[in-house]
Amino acid sequence: MTDQASTLLVLGGSTDQLFMIRTAKEMGLRTACLDGNPAAPGLAAAHISAPIDFSDLPAVFQWVNRQDEIFAGVSTMGSDVPHLLAAIGAHYGWSVPTAETGRLATDKLAMKECFTANGVPVPRFCAVESAADVRHSWLQWGCPRVIIKPIDRAGSRGVLLLDESQDIEKAVAHATSQGMSGRLILEEFVSGPQISTETVISQGQARTPGFADRVYEGMESFHPQIMENGGWLPALCQGQELEKQVVSLVEQAAAALGVKEGAAKGDVVVCPERGPMMIEMAARLSGGDFSEGLVPLSTGVNYVRTIIEIAMGWQPDWPALQPRKNRVVANRYFFPCAGTLEEVDLPDDFVSQDEVIKVVLNYQPGDVIPEIRSHGDRAGVMVVVGNSRGQVQGLVDQGYEKIRFKIDGRWVTGKPRQ
Ligand SMILES: Nc1ncnc2c1ncn2[C@@H]1O[C@H](COP(=O)(O)OP(=O)(O)O)[C@@H](O)[C@H]1O
Ligand SMILES: [Mg+2]
Repeated sequence: MTDQASTLLVLGGSTDQLFMIRTAKEMGLRTACLDGNPAAPGLAAAHISAPIDFSDLPAVFQWVNRQDEIFAGVSTMGSDVPHLLAAIGAHYGWSVPTAETGRLATDKLAMKECFTANGVPVPRFCAVESAADVRHSWLQWGCPRVIIKPIDRAGSRGVLLLDESQDIEKAVAHATSQGMSGRLILEEFVSGPQISTETVISQGQARTPGFADRVYEGMESFHPQIMENGGWLPALCQGQELEKQVVSLVEQAAAALGVKEGAAKGDVVVCPERGPMMIEMAARLSGGDFSEGLVPLSTGVNYVRTIIEIAMGWQPDWPALQPRKNRVVANRYFFPCAGTLEEVDLPDDFVSQDEVIKVVLNYQPGDVIPEIRSHGDRAGVMVVVGNSRGQVQGLVDQGYEKIRFKIDGRWVTGKPRQ
């Protein structure tokens, strides 16, 4: 580390990037933040900032060149923009994903083709354009359910699970309307436990400090939409052979995408017959609670710091990725029914407990809660910790029971399937 080049440029200043800005400051770095929204909190949190849309590359270059700071790198978290990191980093010679990694990681079809070409197991998949294409491949695969998605969206937007009862024409129209390009991918639905991972890669080495079980309890109520309602750390398979298999799978997947310096966030399904398979991988850090809250709470490891070290072109502190504690952590999302939110009951005897780390609600009284169709619509989250899954499940149950929403005159909870 040198004193000369000590400024990190952070793309985005929403709540998703605040933790990165905070962590960089704790590391003694100068921070710069760009966000097109002048009210983004990261703009005030960073040492220097500007309300610039960071996809406007000429504006970014002009602003960076005008500063007195000596920048050493660029990074982000929660924002799926590896192609922009690639373009900005390539311009200044910083440590970033390549443009090709950015392309593969943001196109679900190109990604799956790349995985297949590199021997990384994935569910059966193909490009589809019409209901006839869907019927043809579904029949060929002979599986009970398939899943259709836009190739270029995230957060479950436009992702639909199809069984015999679904109207295929409608599903194709919906997935097409939710995508950017309108291109679609069809996949065999592999049923089995799902795991979220986060891998840190640099100088030919990889570590996977982010590892959690995904929870889909009660999510049948959103069918044919498919969304998890939270996660568990540590995952049930940790310490077992399956953990090693999943780690090896995601590290192989990151290598296939060409991630050489930075983060890779994996969605894995464990097929009971064929073993772990890649659903997808993003070339970035998670937003939300995973890297900023759940993993540090469970293991004491902050790998956002490691990603910053890599972005700055430093040697990563690998030993810092060794877990220092082992607590059980759960996050659960709130999905109340649609309607006008009139009141929220957030009882103090729940939120004041030491084990209740946070409760964040996304709607205020007066807001209209829409029919929830993707993670962008969910009504909030709680994060709780404890020493066993039993204890933490008890807290989750309490939270779902006690936190209530008055919607169109009726009190309901945010627990899926009520
Ligand atoms: N082939 C599949 N088999 C089983 N579940 C899947 C499959 N594809 C997607 N899913 C489920 O749908 C969710 C969203 O799909 P994903 O491809 O991860 O898109 P997104 O970019 O919206 O996260 C996944 O987290 C997983 O739960
Ligand atoms: Mg996903």
